[in-house]
Amino acid sequence: MSYPYQIKTLAQYHQVYRESIENPSKFWLDIARHFKWRKQPETTSEVLTWNFEQPLIEWFKGCKLNITENCIDRHLEHDANTPALIWEPNDPEEHQRILTYKELHFKVCQFAHVLKNNGVKKGDRICIYMGMVPELAIAVLASARIGAIHSVVFGGFSAQSIADRLIDAQAEFIITQDGAYRGNKEIPLKSVIDDALLQCSFVKRVIVLTHNRMPVSMIKGRDVWWENEIKKVETQGNPDFPAEEMDAEDPLFILYTSGSTGKPKGVVHTCGGYMVYTNYTFVNVFQYQKGEIHFCTADIGWITGHSYIVYGPLSAGATSLMFEGIPTWPDAGRFWDIVDKYRVNILYTAPTALRSLMAFGNGPLQGKELTSLRVLGTVGEPINEEAWHWYHEKIGKGKCPIVDTWWQTETGGIMISNLAGVTPHKPAHATYPLPGIQPILVDENGHVIAGTDASTGEWPKEVVNGNLCVKFPWPGMLRTTFGDHERCRLNYFSTYQEMYFTGDGCFRDKDGNYRITGRVDDVLNVSGHRIGTAEVENAINMYTDVVESAVVGYPHDIKGQGIYAFVILQQTSENQDLTRQDILQTVTRLIGAIAKPDKIQFVSGLPKTRSGKIMRRILRKIAENEIQHLGDTTTLLDPGIVDEIVKGRL
Ligand code: PRX
Repeated sequence: MSYPYQIKTLAQYHQVYRESIENPSKFWLDIARHFKWRKQPETTSEVLTWNFEQPLIEWFKGCKLNITENCIDRHLEHDANTPALIWEPNDPEEHQRILTYKELHFKVCQFAHVLKNNGVKKGDRICIYMGMVPELAIAVLASARIGAIHSVVFGGFSAQSIADRLIDAQAEFIITQDGAYRGNKEIPLKSVIDDALLQCSFVKRVIVLTHNRMPVSMIKGRDVWWENEIKKVETQGNPDFPAEEMDAEDPLFILYTSGSTGKPKGVVHTCGGYMVYTNYTFVNVFQYQKGEIHFCTADIGWITGHSYIVYGPLSAGATSLMFEGIPTWPDAGRFWDIVDKYRVNILYTAPTALRSLMAFGNGPLQGKELTSLRVLGTVGEPINEEAWHWYHEKIGKGKCPIVDTWWQTETGGIMISNLAGVTPHKPAHATYPLPGIQPILVDENGHVIAGTDASTGEWPKEVVNGNLCVKFPWPGMLRTTFGDHERCRLNYFSTYQEMYFTGDGCFRDKDGNYRITGRVDDVLNVSGHRIGTAEVENAINMYTDVVESAVVGYPHDIKGQGIYAFVILQQTSENQDLTRQDILQTVTRLIGAIAKPDKIQFVSGLPKTRSGKIMRRILRKIAENEIQHLGDTTTLLDPGIVDEIVKGRL
């Protein structure tokens, strides 16, 4: 399979971009033709129906497909023996596993039978809580094959977080494993599920894979072993599992993500548009060439793993490398060993990982060849120039383009990025929008900032700064938030009229390169993970002795952002350190270790306006140590509190 829609030159990019904006339906129809449909889109009128007020977004509605036929079956004719997934275990001494497309087909069909035997039907929600093992990808694909809606929950989330998600999605099925390896630790998974299920009696079945074989409880009638269920399928004979026919607009998955208010929301992606978009962006951004090894270091618990370990690469017939471990174990050369071992061509990782590896110096790079690398990529957070240059020089030996890919859980796939080696890269800039994407910068009042409309394909020669919106739909965008469409409208489509609001601030240089500067809402980006300040505050406030708290982000050398919590206690703690530990433990229980504040400062009050609103701007400045720039504090209810907080700054 070649990719006729792979852009090859800068001039072609400009031309394709222009065409995609002038006639989006024709543009996406031409791309959609390269997929395997049961009922294919034939005319431009079948491509898109939309309005951003409701919002209503439908791509290829009425057309039929199953995404797994695109990710697996269609490669069987020419690529049956091509590796689809390569799995590198946590422990380098253990054996890797390689699944060809043929083997992947077999395993996905087998597990789809298991799901069916256990009562799963089209439209049912399946929560998947696993480590980075090949069976995670198999579970995801089998779920898609049977037409169920998967909701993968990252292995770092707590039982309470899982319960919240299970309840919200009304998920009756769970796929998990005994435990996972993570560096020199073993992480329990099934026992966390057991705790979550104390609140979720509606769950009918838990399928448990054995991996590290740590002891787990198994409840008769509810819990079954993955391996036993597979054995039953083996005795049934025919291993093939005909894929369920799905409408392009049927939901494919839910992925929960944090916003500025309340509990995480279930972002819903659908089958047809998501498939077309992840494939198109994978092929173009990374300029994937058949036979290459693509190594995305993300966890499948996040959108990056969904789109660029599973669906994008597999729909393109690529070889996708999946890694169970962490970059620093057994030593900080782990990524580079993997690159050399498999002769990886494309490495896609997060700036946090790069910064933490940089901190080890040149030692871990000694003796590593890294000559197979052709393209490097980053995702999830802004990359600072120092890390960019280190990546470029030390890892790419000055020869590999770096794609700085800006996108979100909600966008499904990459939105702004250079195309490797085709359009120019620029340190710390995501650069140009992908074809079909119409970014627009607006000021706080929703006024479009002059010169931001790039729809002509000509870049205005102006430097501008604003809030990043998108003014036209793209196939990979979210359709709703599960069970609460109004929340979707309020979050993304109500801040600015007739635009999707990203929540990000953005700068554009005179050459039209976009640089994302970070969130402008109350969402933190810690090590590339999105965490709502309100979520962390709610968790802290659950601690018995806490009266009130306020959480802000501050610059952190490795994590990008750290979490700073200002906390009012009911009574002064006699042992502040112990109280801090208790609060951290509470947050870990309620959300997960990823949401633990880096700093907790006990205060006697918070800076509030006369109407009782916390002035986060002031707290942010204090956390950032910008105390000279606190601004006007005279309008506060109690201006004196600011001095106290500044004095006690950690
Ligand atoms: O703030 C942006 C940042 O990550 C947010 C999206 O987080 P999430 O939905 O978890 O998805 C992460 C993986 C796609 C964005 O709103 N972000 C993502 N990529 C970049 C980025 N910030 C700067 N540069 C990027 N390349």
